[in-house]
Amino acid sequence: MGESILEINKVEKHFGGLIALHNVSFNVPANKITGLIGPNGAGKTTLFNTLSGVYKADGGKIKFKKRNIINLSPHEIADIGIARTFQIARPFLDLTVTDNVLVGLGEKNYQGLLTPFKLSVNAANIKKVNEILEMVGMEDFKGNKAADLSLGYKRRLGIARALALDPEILMLDEPLAGLGKDVSKKMLNLIANLNKQGMTIVIIEHDMEAIMSICDKIIVLNQGEKIAEGIPEEIQNNEEVIEAYLGKDELNA
Ligand SMILES: Nc1ncnc2c1ncn2[C@@H]1O[C@H](COP(=O)(O)OP(=O)(O)OP(=O)(O)O)[C@@H](O)[C@H]1O
Ligand SMILES: [Mg+2]
Repeated sequence: MGESILEINKVEKHFGGLIALHNVSFNVPANKITGLIGPNGAGKTTLFNTLSGVYKADGGKIKFKKRNIINLSPHEIADIGIARTFQIARPFLDLTVTDNVLVGLGEKNYQGLLTPFKLSVNAANIKKVNEILEMVGMEDFKGNKAADLSLGYKRRLGIARALALDPEILMLDEPLAGLGKDVSKKMLNLIANLNKQGMTIVIIEHDMEAIMSICDKIIVLNQGEKIAEGIPEEIQNNEEVIEAYLGKDELNA
């Protein structure tokens, strides 16, 4: 499936006696959409946290463009081009949409704790923010306070902030959760459009119809282990996946 941009090799993550990830290996193809599915508690978010440096892996290798990134900090990982959104959208509620994205740009230029954080409001940054807000369909919400946005637009803002890091990989943790059908469809279109512009996407999502429709490749986790990997058709017809996770109802729906 083309060149791999991210190679995950035998990754382990334990929390005390709980094995959240065990021997997880797969490749993320560049410029494609890879889905990460599995039941609640399977380890999906833990894997995102491990890939983005929020958690330190207890073993294995994670290579971004052939470079092992397993010991890098979240900021270093963001800097080299891996950005993610969070399962719970968490913008700065008191800031405007524009300022939230400016903070994202600031994170890109983060110099470490000793340098005080500044919102760098200059023409170049404002131009960049406007471009990003246009990309996510939020050009009409620039001055709105994040607190006043609907869930769908809070999620878009999360994506905008991730895009401010100028990533090569965008990791989305349940971008459709809680959204109505129409809003969900628009979000799916946005994700597909970002991908068409070349963005590599890794998406965690419980909405099977959405996952099957948008993904080039799907990884299935169950109780911390990878139980299947393949194109949507293969996953849909995989006995172990059906038994361990999907349930007959959802697949036949
Ligand atoms: N910081 C932590 N400390 C202890 N246990 C954790 C921590 N983070 C996750 N876990 C545990 O690791 C397991 C995997 O959790 P994770 O959040 O990765 O699941 P998930 O696949 O994202 O589930 P969901 O679909 O519900 O979001 C769970 O048993 C969870 O309780
Ligand atoms: Mg999760």
